[in-house]
Amino acid sequence: MPLLNILTFPDSMLREKCDPVEEIDNDLIQLLDDMADTMYEAPGVGLAAPQVGYTKRVIVVDIKPRECAQESTEEEEILLPPDRSELIELINPEIVFSDGEVTGEEGCLSIPGFVSDVKRKFEVTVEGYNRDGELLEIKCEDLLARVFQHEIDHLDGILFIDRLGRLKRELLKKKIEKVLGKEEKYAVL
Ligand code: NI
Repeated sequence: MPLLNILTFPDSMLREKCDPVEEIDNDLIQLLDDMADTMYEAPGVGLAAPQVGYTKRVIVVDIKPRECAQESTEEEEILLPPDRSELIELINPEIVFSDGEVTGEEGCLSIPGFVSDVKRKFEVTVEGYNRDGELLEIKCEDLLARVFQHEIDHLDGILFIDRLGRLKRELLKKKIEKVLGKEEKYAVL
């Protein structure tokens, strides 16, 4: 499967509001496969379609850590092929319930090398369709809930840096712009 190119800040595609998927066709199935491969290869715990150049409401998530082969030494870690048993693909995902608050460290494949503490809901219920067109309802908390909130934000053009307080956001944005690119014109939140 071809790996997709992950767009990085300040690519304007990351600020697009994505369109709902109206039909699950072969192109969409291919996109889901490629997005999962790209996420595992990065490696990351989630990926949203606009990060790979598609303005569709599609995300893939897997928070299960990838294991190393047993014979690996300290110098050379051999990663086993991803165990996809906990891969979640969601089409048109929506947060239908959320509760509590928790602050935790967050990064993004589209803002490589930067992390920050971000306040998120502790618990969420997410609804979305799988590739077979079945409506799923996923109740989760903590890290998985955080990843869903982060990825669904991507579908509305929102990055984790937008979720910081104003001062923190401006400081981090300046640092990011120094490393990754020119000043960004957008301000979503
Ligand atoms: Ni991200």
